[in-house]
Amino acid sequence: MFAMGFRKSSIRVGLAAVLFCLGMTGCQPAPESDGRSVHFTAAGDIGVGKGATRVLDVIADLKPDLNIALGDLSYEAGIEEKFCDMVKEKLGKEFPYQLITGNHESDGHDGDIENFVKCLPNRLPGLQGEYGTQWYADVPRENPLVRFVMVSPGIDFHGGERLDYSEGSERWRWTEAAIDGARDANIPWTVVGMHASCFSMGHYECEPGAPLINMLVSKKVDLVLSGHEHVYQRTHQLNVNDSCPRLVPGKVAGSCVADDDDEMKEGQGTVFITNGVGGVSPNEVSDNDSEAGYFAVWSGKNRDPAQGTLDVRATASKLDVRFVPAEGFSFTDNFLLEK
Ligand SMILES: [Fe+2]
Repeated sequence: MFAMGFRKSSIRVGLAAVLFCLGMTGCQPAPESDGRSVHFTAAGDIGVGKGATRVLDVIADLKPDLNIALGDLSYEAGIEEKFCDMVKEKLGKEFPYQLITGNHESDGHDGDIENFVKCLPNRLPGLQGEYGTQWYADVPRENPLVRFVMVSPGIDFHGGERLDYSEGSERWRWTEAAIDGARDANIPWTVVGMHASCFSMGHYECEPGAPLINMLVSKKVDLVLSGHEHVYQRTHQLNVNDSCPRLVPGKVAGSCVADDDDEMKEGQGTVFITNGVGGVSPNEVSDNDSEAGYFAVWSGKNRDPAQGTLDVRATASKLDVRFVPAEGFSFTDNFLLEK
């Protein structure tokens, strides 16, 4: 059976966690043995073709608690309902298929985000902000393990307008406050998502803007997820510090790499992941891209091509991150962040 809706039972709040709180003066971050977990998938750049249904089949088999759709949904105007029906048929009518807009629907050109949010509405209780464009939510709502913060920098909205995420702007401060709030509430993991990517082995520049990206890294956001580039690519854990005051797109500095193997310590920096192959055909990656030194793995049309989903399992002490390919592909990725 597919994952059918946002099942409280699947986000397990064990008795051990309660006892742990009762036995302390104030609750401490719960140990992994408390048995609680959150399981989510994430993919962008989807469409309504065979690739999309193949990736949705993988997601259905994985039975996550929720999925983050990283934008670029139908790639065609007027078929928003068709896209939503395809998702609901594969994952169930009540499944939390959570949306952040891509550039193809933010300006209404290839479907409109305003229509997608009607047929795939928010399913996370307690969500704050504007669903589809800029929102955050904690999962589970009580005693959360993950805060998801979704923003929309670097893409055009109606009239060609961009939302203002410049330093100190209202949306910048909203983003900062959402991340700081997760820290203040001792939520173990912070995941930021947006359609546009910054560092990339493909052809796009840092569309969200380097200042915003540096702010996320300086706050040690655990994962930054994006789509946009039709590739899968994952960086090392990057950080800023005295010897690397800021990350500069297009230039690699060794001092900005906190950890370059697949077992990382939480709180040392940020891992950037693009999964823009949630259904569309992969584009090319450039092995000698000027940012290649920041990347651990990449997959594109000319290098281990794949379509598939990101697959993340979070407990209070571990974040286990994988790329699971759709049928017909073999490329995979796996790394671990530990407290
Ligand atoms: Fe796209």
